[in-house]
Amino acid sequence: MAAYGSDTTTEEVLRGHDLTGRHFMITGASSGLGEESSRALAQAGATVTMMARNPQKLENAIERIRSANPSAQLNAGIADLSDQKSIRNYAEGFLSTGSTVDVLINNAGVMVCPFSKTVDGIEMQFGTNHIGHFLLTNLLMPAILAGDNPRVINLSSAGHTHSDVNLNDPNFDESKYNAWESYGRSKSANIHFTQEIVRRYGDHIQSFAVHPGVILTDLGRHLTPELMNEMTERVKSRSTSSSEAKESGALPFKSIQAGAATQVWAAITNDLKDKNGAYLGDCQVGIEGGNPSESGYLPYIFNTETAKALWSLSENLVNQRFSGTD
Ligand SMILES: NC(=O)c1ccc[n+]([C@@H]2O[C@H](COP(=O)([O-])OP(=O)(O)OC[C@H]3O[C@@H](n4cnc5c(N)ncnc54)[C@H](OP(=O)(O)O)[C@@H]3O)[C@@H](O)[C@H]2O)c1
Repeated sequence: MAAYGSDTTTEEVLRGHDLTGRHFMITGASSGLGEESSRALAQAGATVTMMARNPQKLENAIERIRSANPSAQLNAGIADLSDQKSIRNYAEGFLSTGSTVDVLINNAGVMVCPFSKTVDGIEMQFGTNHIGHFLLTNLLMPAILAGDNPRVINLSSAGHTHSDVNLNDPNFDESKYNAWESYGRSKSANIHFTQEIVRRYGDHIQSFAVHPGVILTDLGRHLTPELMNEMTERVKSRSTSSSEAKESGALPFKSIQAGAATQVWAAITNDLKDKNGAYLGDCQVGIEGGNPSESGYLPYIFNTETAKALWSLSENLVNQRFSGTD
């Protein structure tokens, strides 16, 4: 296994890889880590379907990539992950083309937004970050299963440490909304979803959950001074934080090329064949009880019963059952 770490970039991960003929689909590709992953994978010869909800933002991102690489093989896909009808329309259109997906990177995300609900009545962070991707992935499953060395990569976060999923009150109908707790629930859901994909489809699909690091992107658009202070206090009080972080609450920032490296690595490496379902950070396999700003995770994210129950709840919330071993 190559010696990668927190500074490893997309370029380093892709060095020596020719991805010609491989098809990657990436949600949230209109900015941030999704755009950088699209750029880097296309640079290595891949065909990339860049997905977003805002057609103009997506067109601008495609233009930025093409201006540096005119021969980039890029397709545009429009779906709003907070709107199940929009996801179903997109998936139906895609499946009707008969195309396959080798790697789906579920990268789109919203963080600490004020309380609101999706079109379908689900709390926004859980609804977008988990339920939207749950539905998209399962609808596209026939195209993924027909892919070459297929994978599903789910963007999680060190934010999973804020909370495990709440299966009894997923929409904060009974508990008071807390934006960080909500983000934590959704990012824990991304990991449980990864586990359950592996349990159901592990003979056919590899799936990994990724913490990309801390990177300045549009993800911070909803941050207020109060939410920043709350995050600092949470980082300080995390038993698993580094001693420096416990002191100051400071987080180690990465460049965007380093931030996107772990998801690109998860999408292309052959080094993880016996690690299906792993949680990854800093281009390495995660460490239970380690520093979450790096690749550390809390043990509750690996719980088969929670993963099964989340799958059932998610099926209820999209009004559809999906196959695979129960
Ligand atoms: N940046 C970090 O430090 C960090 C740390 C840990 C984890 N992550 C994870 O990394 C992923 C990428 O985040 P980023 O930092 O690249 O943030 P970003 O620049 O804000 O990108 C997020 C993308 O998701 C899209 N999106 C949001 N809501 C959507 C919806 N309802 N339907 C479709 N697309 C939607 C956004 O589109 P619009 O612009 O149209 O909203 C945008 O393209 C997220 O899952 C995030 O949780 C990031």
